[in-house]
Amino acid sequence: MRTATARAHPNIALVKYWGKRDEELILPAAGSLSLTLDGFATTTTVSLDPSAAGDLFSLNGAEASPAQSERVTRFLDLVRSRAGSSSPAVVRSRNEAPTGAGLASSASGFAALAVAAATAYGLDLDRAELSRLARRGSGSATRSLVDGLSIWHAGDDDASSFAEPIDGPAMHMIIVTIDAAEKAVSSREAMRRTAATSPYYAGWVDSTAHSLREMTAACRAGDFTRVGEITELNALRMHAAIEACEPPIRYLRAGSVAVFDAVEQLRADGIEAFATADAGPNVVVISRPADSAAVAERLGGLGAVRVVGAGPGARLIPEEDCA
Ligand code: ADP
Ligand code: DP6
Ligand code: CO
Repeated sequence: MRTATARAHPNIALVKYWGKRDEELILPAAGSLSLTLDGFATTTTVSLDPSAAGDLFSLNGAEASPAQSERVTRFLDLVRSRAGSSSPAVVRSRNEAPTGAGLASSASGFAALAVAAATAYGLDLDRAELSRLARRGSGSATRSLVDGLSIWHAGDDDASSFAEPIDGPAMHMIIVTIDAAEKAVSSREAMRRTAATSPYYAGWVDSTAHSLREMTAACRAGDFTRVGEITELNALRMHAAIEACEPPIRYLRAGSVAVFDAVEQLRADGIEAFATADAGPNVVVISRPADSAAVAERLGGLGAVRVVGAGPGARLIPEEDCA
């Protein structure tokens, strides 16, 4: 029985991925850029079990839901077809972040699974190939193969759609957890609905491609202020497009908006902080490292607050029982 364990961290996008131009290959409608975190790890062990009737997937110590297990099996099918194997696997995973709450569990989850499964099934893949493989599990996982700031090129095809590192200003992220419950509408479903029904979808895709060019320039210039401005703008544009779906989807709650308000006040008081939120109610605030303790203190009453920085891309770790 071949076994491998990998650890990956979530990444939070500064320019968001929201929309696919190919659902099967998970090619995005536009490129995106994110920071891989140094906290909230996912640890996943994949063990081949040729005598089993099918794959078994446990998440946080309990059997995963049928939908979650099906998604893992579809991903493993891809790995098996490349490896020329038909062996089922036992997959045990633990998320330190809440699952399905807009804190990128699908990113750390499929990045860890890509590394552990590729190794357990005997594939020898380089970092770009692992990034492409992780993409097939969840688009955002593409970027969790990369240390720190990561740009996912939209690409022209499967081979050219992967993430690589990009230089940028140092920053911390202050994660404000408002509600750790699983979202009612998954990112995948909400993304489809936005593309199919939001009258703002085309504007969102066009403006994101433009924001990514501006963000890349701001990162290269080490311009934290501009990075922050584009980050907040891009997040609000994404939520505007999502809220215009039919039937509408609204991820931001009153408590999320209160964090955006507090961040505006912090700026008025002379501390440069900027807010973003993924597909969920939880808000992520970025600041210069020197300001993060003051920002965390000011946001403390609005949710559970944790400060994180740049972390490592997904990698193998020595064997350990994570389930
Ligand atoms: P999030 O905001 O947490 O990324 P998504 O809707 O994108 O929410 O994805 C949540 C789904 O990702 C879960 O329901 C599950 O199918 C999958 N997922 C989360 N964590 C893992 C994991 N550790 N291993 C495999 N799949 C995972
Ligand atoms: C709002 O990567 O979770 O976090 O590709 O369907 O699995 P699938 O979606 P997912 O979407 C992430 C959306 C986002 C923005 C981002 O991470 O760029
Ligand atoms: Co996700």
